[in-house]
Amino acid sequence: MTILVTGGAGFIGSNFVFYELKSHPDDRIVCLDKLTYAGNLETLAPVMNQPNFRFVKGDICDRDLLDWLFQEEHPDVVVHFAAESHVDRSIEDPDIFLRTNILGTAALLDACRTHGIARFHQVSTDEVYGDLPLDRPDLLFTEETPIHASSPYSSSKASADLIVMAYHRTFGLPVTVSRCSNNYGPYQFPEKLIPLMIANALADKPLPVYGEGLNVRDWLYVEDHCKAIDLIIRQGKVGEVYNIGGHNEMRNIDIVRLICQALGKPESLITHVTDRKGHDLRYAIDPAKIHRELGWLPETSFRDGIRQTIQWYLDNKPWWEHIVNGEYQAYYEKMYGARETLKG
Ligand code: NAD
Ligand code: TYD
Repeated sequence: MTILVTGGAGFIGSNFVFYELKSHPDDRIVCLDKLTYAGNLETLAPVMNQPNFRFVKGDICDRDLLDWLFQEEHPDVVVHFAAESHVDRSIEDPDIFLRTNILGTAALLDACRTHGIARFHQVSTDEVYGDLPLDRPDLLFTEETPIHASSPYSSSKASADLIVMAYHRTFGLPVTVSRCSNNYGPYQFPEKLIPLMIANALADKPLPVYGEGLNVRDWLYVEDHCKAIDLIIRQGKVGEVYNIGGHNEMRNIDIVRLICQALGKPESLITHVTDRKGHDLRYAIDPAKIHRELGWLPETSFRDGIRQTIQWYLDNKPWWEHIVNGEYQAYYEKMYGARETLKG
């Protein structure tokens, strides 16, 4: 079958492209990506010349382009990763988040309706559920947890999820939705917590922890996420939402300390800075449904995954140094230059 992967030049999308080409060599993968600051064609270089892979540069909001592409490729399945994905950027400038994440998703859904599709899979996030209190470890997000998004990013993803489900109910479009916890692994853009801290620590730069660093995230190795999506598009039930997570809750400060330790860097690099506006306290996924119905379980422990990830960033310095030395400098200055250093 032919799978259209949107956002395949980004972090999770590229890992998904690699996973699909490796595990289903008879399938054809067409990647549609606008190559925003977060998309990187270098990442896809190893598969660019494979006969069953095609890269198309373009915007998911461009309806004419979508019509042309669907007519050319007749995708059986669309796996929709393309999005603006960074909470801090959404706080600075929400507009592009609304355009890409909401209107872009709607444009794709319309192309699927017009041209026919066996499955549209929406790659969503646990952030649509809002946050959980720090002092109630018994509470987890289930698929029944009401949507209660906090940031412009998460509310744009929540809006997209609602539109996807509306196209299922109203037009009978065969959709599935997955909501995953925080991912880490190779090819993550160094604006996100783990690669940012690795890159800064290697350069002996301050490690900017928002507030006290007590916020909790539920970390999952990216390949485990890709395996879960693969299972959902092949065996998942149309019209269903699946939560994906590995019961691996960690406080930000503990992650940053672990990175210092792994790289032999002093914890004195840790700098507490002004907290993120509206900062979600805790995310924690209950993955019982995907385990029960599709047999999915995470395969990589955090201990192994973080070791492999740090090693990947050590082995692939040109990939991220290229980013860190480019436009990213201006971004870093804008986002962190104005943050006040808090007394430790
Ligand atoms: P990313 O920012 O690394 O990659 C996004 C990709 O989408 C980039 O290649 C970018 O060029 C492309 N893109 C952006 N706007 C586009 C447009 N208008 N048209 C076409 N392509 C466009 O993001 P990621 O971390 O890989 O996340 C991928 C998806 O997974 C997102 O939908 C995100 O909401 C979701 N998700 C991410 C996480 C996480 O921890 N990173 C967790 C759960 C869900
Ligand atoms: P991030 O990787 O941006 O993912 P998300 O906000 O989608 O969970 O951030 C993960 C956590 O790390 C979040 O609680 C914010 C915090 N954080 C910092 O403390 N410092 C930083 O420089 C960044 C980027 C994030």
